[in-house]
Amino acid sequence: MDELILGIETSCDETAAAVVRNGTEVLSNVVSSQIDIHARYGGVVPEVASRAHVEMMTPVIAQAMVEAGVSKDDLTAIACTVGPGLIGSLLIGVSSAKALSLVWDKPFVAVNHLEAHLYSSFIEEPDLELPVVVLLVSGGHTMLILMEGHGKYRLLGQTLDDAAGEAYDKVARYLGLGYPGGPIIDKMAMDGDPQAVKFPRALANDGYDFSFSGLKTSVVNYVRKNPDVADVDIAASFQEAVVDVLTTKARRAVEEFDAKGLCIAGGVAANSSLRERVLDIAVEDGINGFIPSRSMCTDNAAMIASAGWWRYHSDGPASLDQGATSSLPFPAYA
Ligand code: KG4
Ligand code: ZN
Repeated sequence: MDELILGIETSCDETAAAVVRNGTEVLSNVVSSQIDIHARYGGVVPEVASRAHVEMMTPVIAQAMVEAGVSKDDLTAIACTVGPGLIGSLLIGVSSAKALSLVWDKPFVAVNHLEAHLYSSFIEEPDLELPVVVLLVSGGHTMLILMEGHGKYRLLGQTLDDAAGEAYDKVARYLGLGYPGGPIIDKMAMDGDPQAVKFPRALANDGYDFSFSGLKTSVVNYVRKNPDVADVDIAASFQEAVVDVLTTKARRAVEEFDAKGLCIAGGVAANSSLRERVLDIAVEDGINGFIPSRSMCTDNAAMIASAGWWRYHSDGPASLDQGATSSLPFPAYA
């Protein structure tokens, strides 16, 4: 029987709702971005984000239901991000989801935002062969994960300081390019020389953890000393260093753990150079490379509904006592 999940996502600066059938068929995927509101501050302002979620939550959910052509009676469950993220933002989504769950008499499913990012691949490739190595790169996290089954994850490594997206955002802010930095640097890098400056590749040949704060400092110092070097060359060289470290480690993990493929997920997975490099590696190494469409990489609620469908089947509904947890850990086994 068909199962329809309404997914709700408000962990950062996107208010999103989606309806997904049987974990993979997206009937609607509505994202209301607050980028324009936060851009003037050069980053997300938590209190401003919470207030914008309050305004947008109901219309976004209504639009997701209308676009999907479904009514509340058609829904199987309501799945919502409960963490990690900005606590004020998370609470808007969680309160809305629990209220609807009570009023509509539908089960409430608690979803981990990081786990949901992994499901962006399954939405578009339901038969993805496991195990896969997933490079989860977003504004708040950088993780290398071995996904052996649904809900069965091994965390191979993560960043020791800044996340990859955070490095993009900080470098862009320093260069006065705007917010968010990722898409801007990505675009500029297309006109620059990635070999112009050899920025450091921290920990490149050392385990599976990452470090990006030294790279950011190195870009800042270089620009201070060499103010005449073109921004496009700095952007391309910085991006080359990030993509080089990410893909070197991911490739090594695929080999060591005999994975069938390599997936990328999270906002930075929308990066053109990273996408191209992962596809090249897949061809060279004879593995499956999976690159979700850009709209699935950045925060959305279709991935929440998809992960929620799997969680509903494995764990059943969550209690309505379930709250939001800002620093919710990724559900990996040791
Ligand atoms: O997954 P996401 O939408 O939100 C979080 O959960 O963090 O990721 C947002 C991050 C931001 O740091 C943004 O600069 C980065 O993803 N990003 C990109 C690109 N598009 C978004 N980074 C590099 N290249 C892109 N094209
Ligand atoms: Zn995210």
